[in-house]
Amino acid sequence: MARTPLMAGNWKMNLDHLEAAALVQRLYWELQDANFDYSKVEVVVLPPFTDLRSTQTVTDADSMHIKYGAQDVSTHPDGAYTGEISARMLAKLGCSYVVVGHSERRQYHGETDQEVGQKALAAFGGEMVPIICVGEPLPVRKSGEHVAYTLAQLDGVFAELSGELARDAVVAYEPVWAIGTGEVATADDAEEVCAAIRVRLGELFGGDVSQRVRVLYGGSVKASNVAGIMAQPNVDGALVGGASLDAAEFARICRFHDHVA
Ligand code: PGA
Repeated sequence: MARTPLMAGNWKMNLDHLEAAALVQRLYWELQDANFDYSKVEVVVLPPFTDLRSTQTVTDADSMHIKYGAQDVSTHPDGAYTGEISARMLAKLGCSYVVVGHSERRQYHGETDQEVGQKALAAFGGEMVPIICVGEPLPVRKSGEHVAYTLAQLDGVFAELSGELARDAVVAYEPVWAIGTGEVATADDAEEVCAAIRVRLGELFGGDVSQRVRVLYGGSVKASNVAGIMAQPNVDGALVGGASLDAAEFARICRFHDHVA
């Protein structure tokens, strides 16, 4: 099955709503200039919550094909949860995707696999696609247990989801030691774990699901290394942090087909 590559820019806690509007517009112009074919690569930006409305306004106004989503969602549908944002609120703003279980959420907010699974469920409830993040910290990589560790996270998250839902999920493998460090995993490292994720999805839900789910790599992806990573058979896209804050650089990442691996 042909899986459409997905390039998702995780802006993290950067840019106010005016800067967000400017960045989306610049990205659009960069891609327009290059006659970008959105049917070949899906382009998604993931701004902070407060930037979603202005992102919606500029993407709608110019009928851009750039999609957008949020970086987190509450497990609860509504109620007395001060500071939280529900799936319904995000869906109403036109979000297509929600990142769940990013390592920074796991590390700073103690999110567990079960909670991440419930967040994925909440995203599906709002008819959005969860981008489910998994990946090992440095000591685990050094111990050689990275595949087992990452698959255990995957099992914990997907225990909350039926096969019907799982088939539409996106998984992002992000080794924690490669996030924001400039320390990119080699293309072979990325492929090793992304392939193992696909095999495990097959064991959990069957071949149809495993062939359909897109598995992204994330961690210091740049225009200069994206082609080699995307050349791997089990890598279907990238979750890009720092490099997605530069419109020209992120546009070059989205245009990885034009690069030589
Ligand atoms: P980075 O972040 O590209 O800045 O390493 C990736 C991520 O955290 O999603």
